[in-house]
Amino acid sequence: MCGIVGYIGNNDVKEILLKGLEKMEYRGYDSAGIGIRDDKDVKVFKEKGRIADLRKKVDMSFDSTIGIGHTRWATHGVPEVVNAHPHQSSDGRFTIVHNGVIENFEQIKNEYLGDIELVSSTDSEIFVELISTFANEGLTTEVAFNKALKTVHGSFAVGLLDEADAEIIYVAKNKSPLLLGKGEGFNVITSDAMAMLQVTNEFIELMDGEVVLLKKDNIVIKDSEGSPVERDSFYTEIDESDTEKGTYDHFMLKEINDQPGTMRNIIQEYQDAEGSLKIDPAIIKQLKDADRLYVIAAGTSYHAGLIGKEYFEKWAGVPTEVHVASEFVYNTPMLSEHPLFIFISQSGETADSRAVLVEIKKLGHPALTVTNVPGSTLSRESDQTLTLHAGPEIAVASTKAYTAQIAVLSILAQVAARELGRNTDFDLMQELAKVTTAITAIIDDAPKIEQIVDEYLSTTRNAFFIGRTMDYYVGLEGALKLKEISYIQAEGFAGGELKHGTIALIEENTPVFALATQEKVNLNIRGNAQEVEARGAKVCTISMDGLDQDGDTYVIPPVHEMLTPLVSVVVYQLISYYAALHRGNDVDKPRNLAKSVTVE
Ligand code: G6P
Repeated sequence: MCGIVGYIGNNDVKEILLKGLEKMEYRGYDSAGIGIRDDKDVKVFKEKGRIADLRKKVDMSFDSTIGIGHTRWATHGVPEVVNAHPHQSSDGRFTIVHNGVIENFEQIKNEYLGDIELVSSTDSEIFVELISTFANEGLTTEVAFNKALKTVHGSFAVGLLDEADAEIIYVAKNKSPLLLGKGEGFNVITSDAMAMLQVTNEFIELMDGEVVLLKKDNIVIKDSEGSPVERDSFYTEIDESDTEKGTYDHFMLKEINDQPGTMRNIIQEYQDAEGSLKIDPAIIKQLKDADRLYVIAAGTSYHAGLIGKEYFEKWAGVPTEVHVASEFVYNTPMLSEHPLFIFISQSGETADSRAVLVEIKKLGHPALTVTNVPGSTLSRESDQTLTLHAGPEIAVASTKAYTAQIAVLSILAQVAARELGRNTDFDLMQELAKVTTAITAIIDDAPKIEQIVDEYLSTTRNAFFIGRTMDYYVGLEGALKLKEISYIQAEGFAGGELKHGTIALIEENTPVFALATQEKVNLNIRGNAQEVEARGAKVCTISMDGLDQDGDTYVIPPVHEMLTPLVSVVVYQLISYYAALHRGNDVDKPRNLAKSVTVE
């Protein structure tokens, strides 16, 4: 979603900002812009579409050492140049980049902005006009900025330039993510550490309500009362090369291929010197103290949570509910007496999940975040964090984060089971090692999976994914993957549920993917496959070795029955990848989607 970068220092800023914006392309955006100072004023360059298009528009003929940049994912107003950031106040003095949503923009417009003529349809323009209005009343820029921050309601991360002062970028945030970056003779702001790894790997967290005066050799952070705040910096472990796609055509393909490596990382990170499973005892205590787990997540992470529920209930014996974050926050169910909230989020920044975290913290409930980004907002604001160790995931369609989430949840549930004195009958690490080999075998089979796509998905407009128990949850993820990048309308269903309505949609040659990896329901799902086949569907059955039957389209290697999602989903990931590729779609940056959804 929207991303911000800013730089103040001694070097020319144009390339730094453009490269930073390119590094944030993966988050999803539809227009972009930069605002850079020459010796007199701040010049703004904006363009709809890709950063490559913006690049062509930027006047490269002058040097600038202070600037801000932005990628915009449209919320208020269509994706057009006029709505792209930066926005300038009508007198040209102030230039702003803003992420988030100003909820009371209408009221601000009516109350403060009189007859100022607005040029865009954005709430962000109102923000910059408000600062300008306060400054024109005689306030200093810092005081005007503070006053505007207290007047707006909603979420924001902002960087502000004042034409009258070439020495400062004003910075603030509320709810939306933003980091400060430190360097020798320069400082930066960024929504995402990855965007500024080109110049530094040293960052400082910024908290909601704080205001920052960013100068080239000095960073002043003040709390909402104006008192100075001291905060240590931290070094990010992300290697810049992890953010490149190397020899792969797409990040998604690279990340699918990363999965065996990620499994090995997880196995290594979550075992002690004796080779036993290891989880921070404080986390296990949280689990033991809980009478019910509430898993909160969105999108693919929600699908991982559904699998996690099986582990928590079947292995650890702890009742578990899984909720879509955006629903939970406005329709909170009855809670148990001692709930533990588990937030699952690849990015750790999803605004819907964070909204739940804020609410449950007000109620005093404990929270654990399972995330790929340890310094992220959800991680910082939870009591505990479990890290996925998957390395940066850049493609919008989540792949390795999903399998990493399931693997980490399985380890958490197994350790909890052990500590709760429950008898678990197998060696999870050994089973995860088998999973790693099975994933590798499927990746090696990619050409065969590409043929499945040719056969089943080359012209269709829709597709169905059916399964029972764990396979049903994997079907939901398979359908999501396919629709988000191939734009084929795809839906996942519980095998038994299809005939209660959806079977009406089955026509001659409608593709139906049926997953059969669970012994208990193997015959049932095959019965469901026959029901749709009898009505013309073209069924692609994916089974597991040992449960396979003649005529199955693809057979995955045998793994522990509770771990099959880690393997079967890889088939669906590759199917989705090739389906999108064959349709000529932008695999890594599908239309309308954002990787990190930082607005509710
Ligand atoms: C977006 C992404 C999905 C992701 C979801 C939740 O919709 O496009 O791939 O699953 O957000 O993100 P999170 O970072 O919280 O896992």
